[in-house]
Amino acid sequence: MLPRPFPRFADVSAYFRCLNSGTRFATVQHKMFEPPHHPTPPWWQSAVFYQIYPWSFQDSNGDGIGDLRGIQSRLDYLRDGTTASLGVDAIWLSPIYPSPMRDFGYDVSDYCNIDPRFGTLTDFDELLREAHRRGLRVIMDLVLNHTSDQHDWFRESRTSHNSSRRQWYCWADGKAFGRRPNNWNARFGGSSWTWDPQARQYYLHSFLKEQPDLNWQHPPVRKAMWDVVRFWLDRGVDGFRLDAINWLGKDMRWPDNPFRFGLRGYTRQHHLYDRDQAIAHEIMGELRQLVSAYPDVALIGEAAADTPGGPASFYGHGDDELHLVFDFRLMKSPWRADSFRRFLSDHVPAIPKGGWPTIVFSNHDQPRHIDRYGTGGDAQARARAAALLLLTMPGTPFLYYGEEVGMRNGRLRYRDLRDPYTKRFWPFRPGRDPARTPMQWDASSHAGFTAGRPWLPVSPDFSQLNVAREAVDPRSLWSLYRSLLQLRRMSPALCRGEYRLIDGCPDDCLVYLREARTDQGWERILVAVNFAELACEFSLPTVPSQGRVLVSTDPLAGEALWDPRHTHLGPNEGQLVRLI
Ligand code: NOJ
Repeated sequence: MLPRPFPRFADVSAYFRCLNSGTRFATVQHKMFEPPHHPTPPWWQSAVFYQIYPWSFQDSNGDGIGDLRGIQSRLDYLRDGTTASLGVDAIWLSPIYPSPMRDFGYDVSDYCNIDPRFGTLTDFDELLREAHRRGLRVIMDLVLNHTSDQHDWFRESRTSHNSSRRQWYCWADGKAFGRRPNNWNARFGGSSWTWDPQARQYYLHSFLKEQPDLNWQHPPVRKAMWDVVRFWLDRGVDGFRLDAINWLGKDMRWPDNPFRFGLRGYTRQHHLYDRDQAIAHEIMGELRQLVSAYPDVALIGEAAADTPGGPASFYGHGDDELHLVFDFRLMKSPWRADSFRRFLSDHVPAIPKGGWPTIVFSNHDQPRHIDRYGTGGDAQARARAAALLLLTMPGTPFLYYGEEVGMRNGRLRYRDLRDPYTKRFWPFRPGRDPARTPMQWDASSHAGFTAGRPWLPVSPDFSQLNVAREAVDPRSLWSLYRSLLQLRRMSPALCRGEYRLIDGCPDDCLVYLREARTDQGWERILVAVNFAELACEFSLPTVPSQGRVLVSTDPLAGEALWDPRHTHLGPNEGQLVRLI
């Protein structure tokens, strides 16, 4: 007989009825992270974000490409308060603007419209209204560093030296004997300079050659982009995810980057001059000022992990640049307790006061974490433990569509690939298309994603791994995500609580405490995760109280009492314990 499943808390009062009021947990030595005090904390601190890759979420018209009406038809799935709903707080839409789609939307040809593949502005307004009706916020993706080469601004810019938009982009003469202006490399391979025969100069592109970089030192560029920001804020969007922000500034005297030995391609030089200039911080400061005229807008930045000062430098002084900045360290790390421990002990506390951490394991640019963390071990068990970490570590979690059902990286043949970056490095690098396959809704044809032919093949495991099947199985990964999301929403300790690492566990384990003062006393939650393939048992003498295991990631475990003298964790098991 299976043990009694964990309790489901239908509402906040049911959760707090089982929460013994207590005192603050004072015996643990070091306090690691104390949330900044706000009389009314901003919504994005306790929110859970869900990234939708619009190409792949839901197709409504049978063309094999996801669209806005498709997303709208799935809003109840994301949040409507019923048991079949995941219960997230905000969606981030990867770009939906008109685009030639060389970089699948990150090459924008018109910032104030919707690509016809996805729908119309009317569809967008309706989606926004319907999302807001459910209490779901909507975040747009904003690509500031570059446009598409098909954008009117660039078309005009390339017409002649005298074009009124000439200075909107980064043009330069070549060196003698037809050599490029300097040695800079593009992130997606090759030189970052392309000769334009019409313009009779080279233009700079930090990514694909179809993505010319804007010149942010030129005031009209800023004005135009801030008009774009106002356009969407006036429509009612709740914020922006800002693409590639550390590329915004470059040294326009065009010096060569110093050479770096022993590495390949893009990493073969020190990127001293082609990115990471102070002006990027100035631009973020301006944007912050602009959005402060609108209530409750969130700015979320994407910066390269190796930008000087780390991505956290884009929090500015904690209140004058971005609200949230992605930290990709856990998105690139293996399944090891010390990587997660270092993240919590070094990186989170390094965030400037007033800043707020983000927790992100997967997105549209990296292989899905179920396979990354799963390498060399039990991928399912690790994905379950990762869900516990994602939703209980201090900071704002970002889910990537489909991770809640355990979607894996698609196994694609070369002829299936669509992304130029993936094609360019195939089969030597995993690329990005495998993490972009269609959402697996049910076991019907094409996983319920489309009635047509999907733009990327659906993963063949869809008949096992899909929402319809997992939502009715209380022991599925989906149900674990949902319980954790539900619990988190009711728990001040998990949403905004202080955080401390607990010492004394084996090296392969990670134990931390979240605690917050509530009207009913101190709420204290302990999270323990075993990263090893073997079970382990240990005692935590610094934890003075007993508790109750509210969630175990082992699907066969049941509710149990927890004693700090005998903590037992199965292989890759995580436990969430409410301390009494
Ligand atoms: C980062 C985005 O996440 C990625 O998908 C895109 O290709 C580059 N920026 C360039 O815009």
